[in-house]
Amino acid sequence: MRARPASIVVLISGSGSNLQAILDATHDGVIDAQVSAVISNNQDAFGLQRAHRAGVDTHFIDPQRYTTRAEFDLALMQCIDRYHPALVVLAGYLRILSKEFVDHYYGRLVNIHPSLLPKFPGLKTHQRVLENGDTEHGVTVHFVNAELDAGPLIAQVRVPVHADDDALSLAERVLEQEHRLYPLVIKWFIDRRLKLRENTVLLDGVALRSPVQLAPDSSKVTINGTSETTDRTINHDKAE
Ligand code: GAR
Repeated sequence: MRARPASIVVLISGSGSNLQAILDATHDGVIDAQVSAVISNNQDAFGLQRAHRAGVDTHFIDPQRYTTRAEFDLALMQCIDRYHPALVVLAGYLRILSKEFVDHYYGRLVNIHPSLLPKFPGLKTHQRVLENGDTEHGVTVHFVNAELDAGPLIAQVRVPVHADDDALSLAERVLEQEHRLYPLVIKWFIDRRLKLRENTVLLDGVALRSPVQLAPDSSKVTINGTSETTDRTINHDKAE
């Protein structure tokens, strides 16, 4: 008898292009798991339509029905736990999480953020990178802790900032890399290669001294300063 595939629950607030990359990777068998539910705090999130189209359960939890963050997060946790997820994925989920929530999923809760964390947590990262005159920008995937866009860093992709960039062109360049990086990191987790132990990120049993760097234009990854090649290139042209 074949074991049931691992369950992933994805939380979104908006377009859901990262969700689409994850759905494609599970559909194609690149990630050996199934997205069992997509939950949003925004009824109009386009990502809910993407999930529906893929035949995945969707839920809208209305923040206005709850007077406190703790009550909302409790309802969210109850909804998530019905699906017994191996991993909870924040994919453009733009709502602050309570400590209770983060503690409950600690070590199996990941987020993607459009900057080279710890630089530029919070919103409007592309604009802030331009205003700061940075020549490099990128994306980070990390385990979540109780602080905003913080928590142990897992992996990054770096992209150049061009002289003629505006926030939109920069966002597009970063988003393209988000769609490569997030499925790859989720695959590592589902394949049990990636773990969080006492605030230390382990990949294949090796503690990361710095986030893994995935090359923007190839499957090359650099782990603790040593270049290796990914076992499988992930290129999700379908996500938009
Ligand atoms: C992505 O750029 C993601 O990195 C960002 O929201 C966007 C969602 O896009 N997340 C954050 O800023 C979290 N702090 P998507 O809905 O198309 O995946």
